[in-house]
Amino acid sequence: MRIDSTVYVPAVSRQAAYLDWLQMLTGICLVLFMYLHALFVASIIFGTRAFNALAHFFEHYYLAQVGGPIIFLIFLTHFILAARKIPFSSEQQKKLWFQSKMLAHRDTWLWVVQIVSAMIILIMGAIHMWVVLTDMPFSADKSAARIQSGFWLTFYLILLPMVELHVGIGWYRLGVKWGFIKSQARKKAKRFEFYLTGFFILLGLVTLIRFLFVKI
Ligand code: HEM
Repeated sequence: MRIDSTVYVPAVSRQAAYLDWLQMLTGICLVLFMYLHALFVASIIFGTRAFNALAHFFEHYYLAQVGGPIIFLIFLTHFILAARKIPFSSEQQKKLWFQSKMLAHRDTWLWVVQIVSAMIILIMGAIHMWVVLTDMPFSADKSAARIQSGFWLTFYLILLPMVELHVGIGWYRLGVKWGFIKSQARKKAKRFEFYLTGFFILLGLVTLIRFLFVKI
């Protein structure tokens, strides 16, 4: 089968630039949130008292009640903005696949990983946020009960690598796109991104294992 690989580049517009800026800003917020979120949830490694103390702090200052829904909105806004460039139709997907193979360029493949992980995160992230935000106050016991039930463990084992890959590739691509990462620094930045992503996946796994050992 022959695939028409023509790419139609839309005309330059001011609105597209503003939307790109907004996409970058929401992306940065989510990257920072996800790294902080991983560190906060990992407080369980130091025991249930550490986790509960942090949970209490967030609720006492309404950071969870107000911050949670704000993150949810940023998450949806980021997706809607990014959706402008996501190939949804099978025709577009075929073209993307064809051109990625043709270019054989690692950064183009990273974009493919971004799109696939985005779809999974959109569904699983929304479900996760809904479940935790409608079951407040947070507590180590509640989280441990969820994870020990088995279903949520499997759920997080899928969501965790998707999120960390998306976040890591996300800031790297942002840096390249907006010129913070210059051509000669790309290799170093990519290596740093690789180790940082590995660290957060490992931390997430240790966190999940620690939850399995919490006595409810
Ligand atoms: C609205 C803000 C959020 C809150 C309040 C929140 C809260 C929590 C809590 C309390 C846990 C512990 C497990 C549990 O109770 O089930 C958890 C785990 C987790 N969350 Fe979130 N979360 C939020 C947003 C997100 C988002 C946007 C993502 C990714 C799309 C995410 C991904 C994860 C993952 C992968 C875990 C598993 C633990 C780990 O391995 O680090 N969370 N979250």
